[in-house]
Amino acid sequence: MIEGLFIALEGVDGAGTTTHTKLLARALKDRGLPVHTTREPSDGPIGMLLRQVLAGRVVVPGVSGARPPSWSTMALLFAADRLDHVEAEIAPNLIDGVTVISDRYDHSSVAYQTLTAGGGMDAMTWIKEINRFARRPDLTIVLDLPPQVAARRRLERTGGREIYDDEQLQEQLARFYREIETHFPDDRVVHVDANRPIEDVAVDVMKQVRILRGEEPG
Ligand SMILES: Nc1ncnc2c1ncn2[C@@H]1O[C@H](COP(=O)(O)OP(=O)(O)OP(=O)(O)O)[C@@H](O)[C@H]1O
Ligand SMILES: [Mg+2]
Repeated sequence: MIEGLFIALEGVDGAGTTTHTKLLARALKDRGLPVHTTREPSDGPIGMLLRQVLAGRVVVPGVSGARPPSWSTMALLFAADRLDHVEAEIAPNLIDGVTVISDRYDHSSVAYQTLTAGGGMDAMTWIKEINRFARRPDLTIVLDLPPQVAARRRLERTGGREIYDDEQLQEQLARFYREIETHFPDDRVVHVDANRPIEDVAVDVMKQVRILRGEEPG
């Protein structure tokens, strides 16, 4: 049996990773391909804990009041969730020949945790190291969107604030994501301009998957 493809979608908050995970899955299913969609934080036990942290439900009792866990605690939780996610959900599907599309993967860890650590190389090297055994995606699609547009989209949709909902951080993330492939030289990373109508973005996302599958010249 041929293994399924492993595809990750990445971008700033509001870039459309959730929207395009769903649309890509539907497009591939329509072509008769078995597809499994998933997300990070995952729906596993560590992912559920992380979602509570992101929502501010799990905090650290600091001297000046409750606060979110530090970037390094977050980095370890995300890495632990990722390895569990691969072991429990991603790898078994791929082995069954199912294409797996993940709404975020380890590029998010390198981007969010490096920047919340202050952006230093030391932190980034360590974050990459704790993710060293995370299976590589066959393709990572980065949805590029100016932070101001992403902020507007986040405001228009429902859902509460999360701990990374900070204008300055989101600007830094947008800049970081534009050149994220420099941090993953062995990965196949492509960018799609997400500052367009959803249907146009979806067509380009699908085009990148067709190129990966050898259906279109690259
Ligand atoms: N190309 C687009 N044009 C206009 N609106 C879009 C586009 N893509 C997504 N949206 C809308 O923007 C909002 C954010 O999209 P979505 O939830 O997919 O982003 P996200 O990257 O998953 O965000 P988060 O990382 O915070 O989960 C949604 O309301 C969605 O319908
Ligand atoms: Mg989302």
